[in-house]
Amino acid sequence: MRSDAGNPPLLTCRDVGKVWPTTGRPFVALDGIDLDVARNEFVVFLGPSGCGKSTLLYLIAGLERVSSGTIESGGSVVEGPGTDRGLIFQESSLFPWMTVGENVAFGLRLQGVAPARRREAAIALLRKVGMADAVDKRPDQLSGGMRQRAAMARALSLRPEVLLLDEPFAALDVQTRSKMQDFLIEVWRDSGASMLFVTHHIDEAVALADRVVVFTARPGRIKSIVPIDLPRPRDPRSPEARALADHLTDLLRDEVDRAFAEQERLR
Ligand SMILES: Nc1ncnc2c1ncn2[C@@H]1O[C@H](COP(=O)(O)OP(=O)(O)OP(=O)(O)O)[C@@H](O)[C@H]1O
Ligand SMILES: [Mg+2]
Repeated sequence: MRSDAGNPPLLTCRDVGKVWPTTGRPFVALDGIDLDVARNEFVVFLGPSGCGKSTLLYLIAGLERVSSGTIESGGSVVEGPGTDRGLIFQESSLFPWMTVGENVAFGLRLQGVAPARRREAAIALLRKVGMADAVDKRPDQLSGGMRQRAAMARALSLRPEVLLLDEPFAALDVQTRSKMQDFLIEVWRDSGASMLFVTHHIDEAVALADRVVVFTARPGRIKSIVPIDLPRPRDPRSPEARALADHLTDLLRDEVDRAFAEQERLR
């Protein structure tokens, strides 16, 4: 589904800016971000390091406040974290002292759900990510891919309308990452949630996105929004996928050069 489908967008960013306070000149991380995300849309953020992709996710998650503009989720202005928005980081943020099941049901525990029902819910959620038998394991007994799947189960436990994923597969090997992409598409279909997914990998963007938002070097602005109108499952080697990947590479190249030039200047 796409944001132009006629329904009101699930998430809107209007002229969003973020300035980090510093001791010297104010540090503009994001400027003039306008973006609509439709219900059940898959949007990928692509941009050079330091352009503000994570910052924008944290603003949408309500973990940081916007400096200007507004973000709305489900028609309400975002003023803090909420169960309508789930966040998954690059390194899984599972609590090492809890079992996988306790981790997955952590949000339910905060909501006062009784232990027996929490365990049942954790097993059902873990089943969705193919890991029901890991309910009593500790996070350090899992592989990197399994940890990220458990983190997904935890994020899904409160039935978010938007999943915010900050380079969730960056630490995984290429084969595992490709499996996790297929798996994420299933989770996306099954949950009906919208996805906002940050990556540095152009092939990953082409594999996953309905639309790719390409950012400029800092201050992060939206340079271009590229629709990926390819049927799923996608063949990354098809001429259409290759042409889109080439187009995204061209869009990104200048921005990466600019970002590196600025880092050199600051050094
Ligand atoms: N809490 C903070 N205080 C001050 N500056 C910050 C803070 N968080 C991020 N920044 C700065 O804001 C800019 C954007 O950071 P952000 O982490 O959003 O970039 P990014 O696009 O996610 O980069 P990467 O691809 O490397 O993860 C960077 O220059 C960063 O140093
Ligand atoms: Mg980041």
